[in-house]
Amino acid sequence: MADFLWWRDGVIYQIYPRSFYDTNGNGIGDLPGITAKLDYLADLGVDALWLSPFYPSPDKDFGYDISDHKGVDAKHGSLADFDSLVEASHKRGMRIVLDLVLNHTSAQHPWFRESSANRTNPKHDWYLWADTIPNNWESVFGGKAWTWHAGRGQYYYHMFVKEQPDVNWRNPAVRAAQLDVVRFWLKRGVDGFRLDVFNVYFKDEQLRSNPFALHGIRAFDRQEHLYDYDQPEMDDLLIELRQLLDQYPDSYAVGETFMPTPENAFRYMGEDKLHAAFEFDFLHSKYDPAQLLKAIIDWEKLAEKTGLFPNYVLSNHDVPRTATRHAKGEDDARPKVMMALLLTMRGTPFLYNGEEIGQRDISLKRSELLDPLGKKYYPFHKGRDGCRAPMQWDSSENAGFTSGTPWLKLHPDYKTRNVEAQQKDENSLFNLTRKLIALRKEYVTLRRGDFIHLENTPKKVLAYFRKDKNETILVVLNFSNKIQSMDLPAPKWAILFSEMRTGKVGAHLKLFPNEVLVLKK
Ligand code: GLC
Repeated sequence: MADFLWWRDGVIYQIYPRSFYDTNGNGIGDLPGITAKLDYLADLGVDALWLSPFYPSPDKDFGYDISDHKGVDAKHGSLADFDSLVEASHKRGMRIVLDLVLNHTSAQHPWFRESSANRTNPKHDWYLWADTIPNNWESVFGGKAWTWHAGRGQYYYHMFVKEQPDVNWRNPAVRAAQLDVVRFWLKRGVDGFRLDVFNVYFKDEQLRSNPFALHGIRAFDRQEHLYDYDQPEMDDLLIELRQLLDQYPDSYAVGETFMPTPENAFRYMGEDKLHAAFEFDFLHSKYDPAQLLKAIIDWEKLAEKTGLFPNYVLSNHDVPRTATRHAKGEDDARPKVMMALLLTMRGTPFLYNGEEIGQRDISLKRSELLDPLGKKYYPFHKGRDGCRAPMQWDSSENAGFTSGTPWLKLHPDYKTRNVEAQQKDENSLFNLTRKLIALRKEYVTLRRGDFIHLENTPKKVLAYFRKDKNETILVVLNFSNKIQSMDLPAPKWAILFSEMRTGKVGAHLKLFPNEVLVLKK
C-alpha cells in the first residue's frame, strides 16, 4: 500500500447532495446529511467523495448554475457544515472532491449582474457579449446559444440554459478570479475537483461558425463543433491549474470531458495537466462484452502509449442508471456483472450514489419533469430527473431520506430495495460491491496489474487477467442468461470472489447465467 495514490488506486463515490440524505426536513439533501452517512461510506470502502454542487444556486440547472462559487446554499447547510464534513471525512480516511463549475455562472451571479448592467462597467467583458448574433452556435440544451439581454442591449453566449452565461476565460481578470475559487477550496481542506465541462471554457477567438455535419437530430448535433470547445488555449490553462494544485500535496483534478473520446480525454491528462479526465464509453455501452471490451481496449492502447491511468464510470447524475439500462425488472444479476467489471478494471472506478444497491430510475410524467433538458426535448429525451431520485436508505416513509416532502419523488420499489435490506442480504448487490472494493484494496494486482483479455471465450463471456510479476488474477463474467462452458488456462484456481461456488475451480468451467468469478492462480 506504500505507493497507494487515493485518486488513482482508490474508489471515488459521487454524491448528488440534493438526493442523498436530508437532516432538516426541507425535502432536500444537505451537508450534515452526508456527514451523518460517513460511517456507511467508510464501511462500503470508498476512498473519496465527489460532491455534486451544493453552492448557492437558483436551480435552473439544479446546482450547476451557481450564484456564489465560495458559499453553501442555505437549503444544503452552511460553510461551517462543510468544514465539519471535511474534517469528519478526513478522520475516516476519505477525501473530498468538489464539483467546480467554472465554464459558466448563474445569471444571478454578481459578476453577471454587473457585467450585464451596461457596456462600461469594470466587468463588462467578463462574459461573451456581441451586438449581433455572430455565428451559428447552438446551445447543447436546445435553442440558439446567443440570447438577447435587454438591459445591456446585446447578446450573450451560453452553451447550456440561458440562465447559465459562459464566462470569458480569455480575460486575465476572469482567469485570476476563477483560480481564486480553486484556491479558496484548497485552503479549506478540499482534496480535489471534478471540473464540469472544462474543455468548453475557451471558444474560438474569432467566433467562427461551425461547419455543417449530421451527427444527430438536435440542431446542436447538425454541426461539426470545431469552434465552440476543445480549443488550443485549454492546455496552457490546465498547466497553470496544475501548478496551483501541486502547491497542495496529494491534490487532484478530474475533468468532465465534454463530447469525450479517449483521445481528447488523454490530451488533457498528464503529469503537468489533469490527473484524470472522463471518457464515457461504459455509460453508453450495451450489456455486451464485445462493446465493453472495445471501450477498454481503446483506453488501454492510449494508456500504454502515454503511461497514464484510465478511469471508468457506469452511472452519474446525467444519464439513466446502470441498473435501469441493463436490468430486467427487479433482478440484479446484470447490475452485479457490471459492478464486478467496474471494480476489477485497470482504471479508477467511479460509483454514483445508489448504484451500490441497484437503484432504478424513477419515471415521470411530462408535468412532473424538473430538468430543463427533459422539459425541452420530451418525449425524445425525458431529462435527467430519473437518475436523480432520492437515495433509498430503508423501508420507512420516503425511504428514510427525509421527514419532509422529498423534492423529487422516490422510486416505488424502496420498500424492498434499500440499503438496510441489502446490508442484511449476503448476496445483495450492495454486498458484492463491498466485497469487491475490499478485494481491490487487498490486491495491488487488481488495482494496477496489467489488463490482458482472454481470447476465444464464448461470445457472451468476458474474461481477463489482471497480472503483475508475482500474481495472476482472472476475472470471468458471463453476460448471458444461459450456462456457458469454457476452458481456463491453468488446471487449478483459488476463488477470490464468487456468490455461487466454493472450493477450487478446475480447468473446465461451466459458468452459471450472469455469473461473476474472480480467481487467482
Ligand atoms: C455537466 C453536468 C451537468 C450540467 C452541465 C452544465 O455536464 O454534469 O449536470 O447540466 O455540465 O453545467
